[in-house]
Amino acid sequence: MKEQGGSGCKSHVVVESLGRPLGSRVRLCFYSLLLLSTIIVMVLFALPSSFLQMDWWTKLSPVSYYHIWTNQSLWWVGPIPTTLPISLLTTSPPRPPTLSPTPPMTTLPPPPLTTSPPRSLATSPPTPANKYHKGHPRNFHFIIDQPSKCMTENPYLVLLVPVAPGNPTARDAIRRTWGNETLVHGRKVQTLFMLGLPGGPGAQELQKKVHQENDLHQDLLQSSFMDTYLNLTIKTLVIMDWLATRCSNATFAMKIDSDMFLNVENLMTMLLRPDVPKVNYLTGMLMWDRPVIRNQNSKWYVPFEMLADNTYPTYTLGMGYVFSNDLPKRLVEAAKDIKPFTIEDAYIGACMKRLGLSPTSPPDPWQWKAYLSKYNRCEFSKIITYILGHSSQIVDYWMDLKKTPGPPCP
Ligand SMILES: *[C@@H]1O[C@H](CO)[C@@H](O)[C@H](O)[C@H]1NC(C)=O
Ligand SMILES: *[C@@H]1O[C@H](CO)[C@@H](O)[C@H](O)[C@H]1NC(C)=O
Ligand SMILES: *[C@@H]1O[C@H](CO)[C@@H](O)[C@H](O)[C@H]1NC(C)=O
Ligand SMILES: *[C@@H]1O[C@H](CO)[C@@H](O)[C@H](O)[C@H]1NC(C)=O
Repeated sequence: MKEQGGSGCKSHVVVESLGRPLGSRVRLCFYSLLLLSTIIVMVLFALPSSFLQMDWWTKLSPVSYYHIWTNQSLWWVGPIPTTLPISLLTTSPPRPPTLSPTPPMTTLPPPPLTTSPPRSLATSPPTPANKYHKGHPRNFHFIIDQPSKCMTENPYLVLLVPVAPGNPTARDAIRRTWGNETLVHGRKVQTLFMLGLPGGPGAQELQKKVHQENDLHQDLLQSSFMDTYLNLTIKTLVIMDWLATRCSNATFAMKIDSDMFLNVENLMTMLLRPDVPKVNYLTGMLMWDRPVIRNQNSKWYVPFEMLADNTYPTYTLGMGYVFSNDLPKRLVEAAKDIKPFTIEDAYIGACMKRLGLSPTSPPDPWQWKAYLSKYNRCEFSKIITYILGHSSQIVDYWMDLKKTPGPPCP
């Protein structure tokens, strides 16, 4: 339709310009084009500036939309956090703002730690720091741990949510919604939150609150690395390490971001399918041949020194990926040989590749949705994941979805 309209306009211009140069059709074409270009200019101005700085292929890719809609502050969610300089990389790209407030990065010493439950599972002595590369989870220890949670609860599926210490709102929203699903299709589900250390002024106060929150809910894990955006790869590896050392009996585990909607029932239905393997299995929203971004202005810039490859191995998008629970142990092993780079989801892809494995496409890929256009109860009853803009949406949509009796869905 569009094509026809366009060429029709053009031919009219050609034909009529011979006879009646300012015919009504020409004028119509002119005004439509004027309107169109005005709209384009307005749209360009409305876009976040970082979007315009991205390479064209990054703009077109679904992953960039995902990142724009999640990692970057959203105009409909709230004020845009100011970008801070970072210290990890010598080249200092802007620090990507996150939805959940991460503590500012400073060199303040970590807060004093009151209770320190047994560090590792008794037998292994504390590993000397930097035995492996700096990001390896064995260089950190748990400050808050749930060492016997899996033994007492014996979950089939464990949901691990990386979240900033200063974001109790997101944790509460999850506790009230999908995190409260403990028995699904007869299988036990356990939800736990993974935190790093808070930094900056107020860190001690915040740390105290974190302990109180854990006393109340007994569902926090906290490791001894600084909780920052650029340490997300460490966070993911610590999640893997926890699963490998404290929860090896679970059959499946999932890393899921705190701004996600998760339909646990549909996830469990998928996991219980006979064609879903219980070993060497990693699935989610798959990314193939994604280029490593070398544009220093990009939020996902990775310097050559950090990663020499020009494309990432196949990986599952970090918003939520589910895996058979034999993998964490092997991923932690593989990670010893792979220098960390800051894109945590692609890093897991690199570990998989090292193991000679590759993520598998889910049985129904359409159930893994990145960004939300508009809430639709029937759609939410069929999907597995959706990225949301705000914690309050998790609660609103969940309540609507669970409302009985709801209107029937086709
Ligand atoms: C794992 O399961 C086995 C057999 O079901 C049991 O003997 C063992 O104690 C369990 N281990 C943990 C850590 O739960
Ligand atoms: C979790 O669900 C149970 C019912 O299954 C309910 O009694 C409880 O209040 C819920 N917890 C939260 C934090 O919403
Ligand atoms: C990552 O965590 C380590 C260990 O706590 C810390 O030394 C480092 O500054 C953190 N890196 C960034 C970029 O925050
Ligand atoms: C943000 O980006 C990181 C790294 O690319 C990714 O792992 C994570 O899942 C993204 N989303 C959020 C909400 O942090």
